[in-house]
Amino acid sequence: MPSVPERVFAVLAEVTRRKLPPTRVFCEWGSGFGTATCLAALLGYKAYGLEIDAELVRRSRALARRLGIPVTILCTSFLPAGYAASAGVDGVALVVPESVRAHTDTAEARGPLRYAGMEIAITDIGLFFAYPWPEERELMLQLFEAVARARALLVMYHTDTDIRVLRKVAGEGELEDPHVHRP
Ligand SMILES: C[S@@+](CC[C@H](N)C(=O)[O-])C[C@H]1O[C@@H](n2cnc3c(N)ncnc32)[C@H](O)[C@@H]1O
Repeated sequence: MPSVPERVFAVLAEVTRRKLPPTRVFCEWGSGFGTATCLAALLGYKAYGLEIDAELVRRSRALARRLGIPVTILCTSFLPAGYAASAGVDGVALVVPESVRAHTDTAEARGPLRYAGMEIAITDIGLFFAYPWPEERELMLQLFEAVARARALLVMYHTDTDIRVLRKVAGEGELEDPHVHRP
């Protein structure tokens, strides 16, 4: 079931009005029909949607084209190359590539992390949106912590009446609620 566009728009518009995202690049993890991606484009973001289901990619691209909204929908996983998900008793957890976990090479040597087909780096993204299945919520938080730039925002849609906004803070492994700590 898709998210409710009015609810999504209200949150995206509010964080934009408050100038909370550090860049005007948006990415929807699991973009479905691409509605949130289109809404972000209408709010002035360079907007990307990542969707693994080829039929949804086709339909979302067609919808955006019909509405004349400039978005980029990529048929790919929201897990960057080398990252994986592992199912456990508590849900799904992120598996970080060995090179990152072991620090056997530096971020400089690795170069900026990108999604295939996306010209910008993941650290250029200032605003993420995700409406994961409940068992994948923790995975999304771990992914956000692992790959997002400092001060990036994640709008996480749990239900129509429970939409959370998280911000990555400078120290790795920390997330905060921007409604509590204003910039
Ligand atoms: C609950 S739906 C949300 C769709 C849309 N974001 C919305 O708000 O209506 C989750 C979407 O994530 C997609 N998805 C699931 N796993 C994915 C993955 N690893 N990479 C990209 N998309 C994925 C599904 O195909 C589905 O379209």
